[in-house]
Amino acid sequence: MKPVLLIHGGAWAIPGGELDPHRAGVKKALTAGYAVLEKGGSALDSVECAVTSLEDDPAFDAGTGSFLTRDGRVQMDALIMDGARMLAGGVACVERLKNPIQAARLVLEKSRHVYFVGQGAEAFAHEHGMPLIDNADLIVDRERARLREAQERERAGLPDSSFSGDEPPQMRRPATSARMDSHDTVGAVALDAEGRIAAATSTGGTLNKAPGRVGDSSLIGCGCYADNLSAAVSLTGWGEPIMKLVLGKWAADRVQAGSAPQDAAQASIAYLARRLNGHGGILVLAPDGRWGIAHNTPHMAWGVCDAQGPRIGTEFPG
Ligand code: GLY
Repeated sequence: MKPVLLIHGGAWAIPGGELDPHRAGVKKALTAGYAVLEKGGSALDSVECAVTSLEDDPAFDAGTGSFLTRDGRVQMDALIMDGARMLAGGVACVERLKNPIQAARLVLEKSRHVYFVGQGAEAFAHEHGMPLIDNADLIVDRERARLREAQERERAGLPDSSFSGDEPPQMRRPATSARMDSHDTVGAVALDAEGRIAAATSTGGTLNKAPGRVGDSSLIGCGCYADNLSAAVSLTGWGEPIMKLVLGKWAADRVQAGSAPQDAAQASIAYLARRLNGHGGILVLAPDGRWGIAHNTPHMAWGVCDAQGPRIGTEFPG
């Protein structure tokens, strides 16, 4: 079986000056993750490798360079899933780990539990060899400035770029740029030569979020899912609507029911928009190697490598 790797670096209105760094970061992660598959490595190792590369790249909202919480800290969530063994590992609200996706992998491999949060997640990762770092090491000046602007907008009564998630339907604004300037989650799905699929998603969440808020990215079946009976899926975008629709599992179920992955990807994003006025992007990969990508945001940094070779972009055609 020819391996396949798909990655994303967030679906949102990526500012013009940040498009090139996004392309470069996606290319680097795609190259690293696909090299694992070409050497005969597993889909699980490949998605962990690709997402680690994206977390280490300050261009993206994951790991170093993440968006900041309301009180100026980085707080991250990540999930990894092995579709062949139906194993999952997740962490949420971690602040002292350079690579949350590696902590999630440790949970998958070394714990009888599936999901750890906060200090418990950090302690578990540390017990298994991960160093605990200073939260300030994850913060970049660009994000300090972005948080300042968001909070100035808030004080001026302009639309908040973070979303409380409890707005009543009659108050929902259309999915305008205000909702599209703060979602930059990263993720990957892969198929290896032995036919195993895996998915990984990692995020710093949304700009100016309340401390303790958890988004879709690390929740099983929401921002990430993998089952060899259906599909591997990774999502990005405004987390609250994605969570309410359990959209990753929704997409995988469509593939299991016979939809082509591209149709399932497009149907998922259309459902997200129609049902909850949500926005975001999705990767879908079937165990037979067919794949799909869709987003309803101005941009989504994406990369694919399969039998046709590597391709990257910041808007997916179609
Ligand atoms: N999709 C990222 C988040 O809402 O946290």
